[in-house]
Amino acid sequence: MSKFNNSRVLITGGASGIGKIMGRKALERGAAELIIWDINKESLAAVADEFKDLGRVVTCQIDITKFAEVERAYNEMIADDNAATPDILINCAGIVTGNRLFHEQSRREIDKTMEVNAMAPMYIAHLCLPSMVARRSGHICNIASAAGLVSNPRMSVYAASKWAVVGWSDSVRVEMQEEQTGVHITTVAPYYISTGMFDGVRSRILPILKPEKTAEKIIRAIERNNDFLTMPLGYHFIRFWQGVLPTPVFDFIFGKIFGIYSTMDNFTGRNGKKE
Ligand SMILES: NC(=O)c1ccc[n+]([C@@H]2O[C@H](COP(=O)([O-])OP(=O)(O)OC[C@H]3O[C@@H](n4cnc5c(N)ncnc54)[C@H](O)[C@@H]3O)[C@@H](O)[C@H]2O)c1
Repeated sequence: MSKFNNSRVLITGGASGIGKIMGRKALERGAAELIIWDINKESLAAVADEFKDLGRVVTCQIDITKFAEVERAYNEMIADDNAATPDILINCAGIVTGNRLFHEQSRREIDKTMEVNAMAPMYIAHLCLPSMVARRSGHICNIASAAGLVSNPRMSVYAASKWAVVGWSDSVRVEMQEEQTGVHITTVAPYYISTGMFDGVRSRILPILKPEKTAEKIIRAIERNNDFLTMPLGYHFIRFWQGVLPTPVFDFIFGKIFGIYSTMDNFTGRNGKKE
């Protein structure tokens, strides 16, 4: 039986992209309740309507960087029907603010990217973990990125936020295992996915991932209590190559031949405009 069956699932950023697909998959696997926290009111209304026949869906419009509001929403969520902390938390909300060089970005953009992508998952997990540890069960899945494993020009702050998620999430995974808490942590590092968030990126050799397939792999990784999921699998070895190759050789092979360092050159994002 799927671990989603009869579970309470909270997904941040679950009103669009892979978060939305994972929400549908959780309901299809028998989740008792899907809670979606997202900043986008229209997308939340659309997803609530689309999923209404699949099971109980609770949506909450919230900016996850407003930590006082997040705490209030969390306390309301656990007070409601005496239900407890979610069984499964998927930290999926994320942003990218353009493809400018680091020194061309505003301090506001730097702060916002770090707050949404790195700080918010930590704070939300920090709210959920004590109850999970106390009841000796629970699962937190943190959506990082392949950009959290390799340096990438024109997305330096995004990369920084995702490197932070990888380091934090996998460290908590070790803590949970060493303390034998019964709580599982899965860190996910996918390459580009065609959700719209990274519209305009070009990938020379590695294929851009399909949202449906990516979401299915993440859901399966949660069901199997996998510690770390990289997509495609080959990306898992990138840190090995970083370790063994001299930097100019690494830059040449992965940056130039694989073209990773130029993927962001034609980025437009959802607004469709090249900067
Ligand atoms: N699309 C890709 O190429 C790609 C690749 C690797 C990793 N990721 C990561 O996967 C996750 C999902 O990405 P996606 O492609 O589905 O993107 P998406 O833009 O479709 O979904 C992100 C969701 O997060 C929500 N969100 C943004 N800021 C928020 C805030 N402050 N508070 C609450 N909600 C907020 C948005 O409204 C949106 O619904 C992100 O963390 C992203 O960084 C994406």
